Amino acid sequence: RGHGRTRAVLPGQIGVLPSPVTLRQSIIVPTYNERDNVPALLERLAAALPHEDTEIVFVDDSTDGTPEVIAASLAGFPIAVTVHHREQGEGGLGGAVVEGMRIARGEWIVVMDADLQHPPEIVPDLIAAGLRDGADLVVGSRYARGGDTGGLADGYRKLVSRGSTLLVKTLFRNSLLSVSDPMSGLFAIRASSLDTGRLRPLGYKILLELIVRNRPGRIVEVPYGFQARHAGESKSTAAEGIRFLKHLAGLRIGPARLRLLAFALIGVSGLLPNQAVLWALTSFTEMHYTAAAVVANMIAVGWNFALTDTLLYRNHRRRGPASRFSRFFLVGNADLLLRIPLLALLVSGLSLGVLAGNLLTLLASFVVRFLISEKLIYRA
Ligand code: GDD
Ligand code: MN
Repeated sequence: RGHGRTRAVLPGQIGVLPSPVTLRQSIIVPTYNERDNVPALLERLAAALPHEDTEIVFVDDSTDGTPEVIAASLAGFPIAVTVHHREQGEGGLGGAVVEGMRIARGEWIVVMDADLQHPPEIVPDLIAAGLRDGADLVVGSRYARGGDTGGLADGYRKLVSRGSTLLVKTLFRNSLLSVSDPMSGLFAIRASSLDTGRLRPLGYKILLELIVRNRPGRIVEVPYGFQARHAGESKSTAAEGIRFLKHLAGLRIGPARLRLLAFALIGVSGLLPNQAVLWALTSFTEMHYTAAAVVANMIAVGWNFALTDTLLYRNHRRRGPASRFSRFFLVGNADLLLRIPLLALLVSGLSLGVLAGNLLTLLASFVVRFLISEKLIYRA
């Protein structure tokens, strides 16, 4: 991150910023392979915006030469432009926007897409509305009266957009009361009400992240018509949909409680191999039920490790795979020291069935193992 950045800070000139200045507005444009869109975008921004007091900040993760195309358009260009190119563009669209916000020097920070689905001519209206109504955040809305989703490719995308908006509005009833289009990628925020340190963007929905975590004071909306893409293709994928659900879960219930939930689900899924192996060994072999419970446990711990390690802690690994597995395996089977005597007590002492007894002892150990995993195996 931060390698290979090129900066064009004065109209048509590449160089280093003279000194910190405050501008009226910074337009942040995330770009990922938009070389056929940026010339038209720049032209329309220059026609729509005041040239003094404005800067345009591209945060670019492209591999198609978009920064070079921008640079080529800058000769004689009347507005200051910064291109922040990231070699290892991490954090996707949301991460790019936050990085742009950190560089920006405007009193107002406007975020818009590069593909002209957001008409550049609407930008002055956003800021005017913010000033007029004393707002901290102005949302460009497709769903406010006078706006439309015309440029959404087809009925299916419209349905997904409507459905996810409804879901989000139900989940965040209080903070989204006055926002008809929380999934919008077009908005303007007063820099003074921005706290980028509190943002943990994941994927596309940076506005939602901002509203929920920064809680801007007054929010107003400006309707606009969502246009068709000027050139190229949407960068949104099915993986982006999954990321969106993760983002929602993280925003709504927080990462720690989310992990507790996932850990519990994975643990419960381990009951299946555990009970199945125990049942098979006690039904079809002469093995004593305590020995069978040990074998069943080892197999279930292997199952749990595979799921926990890949689904839950993939981004929190601090040790090599052998180390993670041996620790997980040791801890996962350590409870046998308590579970087997307990099982013997339940089955031989209290004449409980083997499977029922096994289940009871397993439930008791789940809670204990989650705590150990969080604190001792991983650092999450
Ligand atoms: N730097 C960077 N890094 N930019 C990215 C990345 C990335 O990983 N992914 C996408 N972008 C840029 C694109 O180049 C484009 O300028 C903008 O983000 C939006 O990407 P699109 O691929 O055009 O998204 P979309 O049209 O499907 O979605 C847009 O509209 C939705 C509403 O329907 C976005 O504005 C969404 O945020 C919005 O919800
Ligand atoms: Mn788009």
